[in-house]
Amino acid sequence: MKIIVTGSSGQLGTALKFLSGIYAEYDWIFLSRNDLDITDSGKLDIFFSKTEMSDSVIINCAAYTDVEKAEDEKEKAYLINRDGARNLAVRSLASGFKLIHLSTDFVFSGMKGSPYIEDDIPEPVSVYGKSKYAGEQEILTIPDNCLVVRTSWLYSTTHNTFVRKIYSRLKAGKPFSVVLDETGSPTNVDDLASALIKIIEKIKSVKNFRTDILHFCNSGEVSRYYLAKKIAEYAGSGTSIQPILSDELNMKAERPHNSALDCERTVKEFGLGVRSWDKALKEAVDKING
Ligand SMILES: NC(=O)c1ccc[n+]([C@@H]2O[C@H](COP(=O)([O-])OP(=O)(O)OC[C@H]3O[C@@H](n4cnc5c(N)ncnc54)[C@H](OP(=O)(O)O)[C@@H]3O)[C@@H](O)[C@H]2O)c1
Repeated sequence: MKIIVTGSSGQLGTALKFLSGIYAEYDWIFLSRNDLDITDSGKLDIFFSKTEMSDSVIINCAAYTDVEKAEDEKEKAYLINRDGARNLAVRSLASGFKLIHLSTDFVFSGMKGSPYIEDDIPEPVSVYGKSKYAGEQEILTIPDNCLVVRTSWLYSTTHNTFVRKIYSRLKAGKPFSVVLDETGSPTNVDDLASALIKIIEKIKSVKNFRTDILHFCNSGEVSRYYLAKKIAEYAGSGTSIQPILSDELNMKAERPHNSALDCERTVKEFGLGVRSWDKALKEAVDKING
């Protein structure tokens, strides 16, 4: 069985590449943006005409993920996050492959007051969130064999995202501020990659399943400020971190104040193991520490 990963140079694509060595029974194909641009219908058609696609799963990791820049690059964000998703979804129906499409906690407004379940109605507050929600809706038009997997606050040791950025600032030694009024569920990308394999193992032999939305993140929730403090603790750093409110930062993109995800339904349905956010974080910081 083939597992095809689009957007393979990103955090999740890289984590899946690492796992592919362990799951060598699958025929893995990793496609970076240069190999296959999901917004290029012509290239997609050529690829799908040359590749036997029945008995294949595509994990779509390709996305426009710069939340702040998206406010100025709305068209580009929608082109990749909505139109790219649609391009894969319609071809899933035509070519008979299963599609796992990644989405985000940023489809929610953050006003619920408790973790979001799969059935909660999205109400995104940023261009990025809106473009990802539009992508979800494209996937959900296909009745069978597609899964939207929402995850949150994804970090890795390989790419310069929140955990690495905070680590670098701690090492620089100058006091800095981190937002207190944004709470979510940080997710170690290695845990998400393993969960996706488990999900594939469950769906691979099912001829037809109904298109659905799943949630996966590490368990528990924390504010960005306390997450940064935890990174400092695990890194053994004494650099001072001050709490700051999001309003004081004058960011272009509005972010949800509490976008923690409730993964209980997905975890039960697929028998997934879930580590707490702080345990998964410690492993990552230990790795960065060397
Ligand atoms: N990062 C987070 O905190 C977070 C949180 C929740 C959900 N998610 C979702 O999780 C998924 C994976 O995120 P990630 O952190 O791994 O993202 P990432 O590191 O930004 O990787 C995205 C990848 O997509 C590629 N890409 C962009 N446009 C493309 C196109 N038109 N065709 C093919 N590839 C394209 C990018 O290539 P270039 O590098 O060449 O641009 C990049 O390698 C995304 O759907 C994201 O929305 C992320």
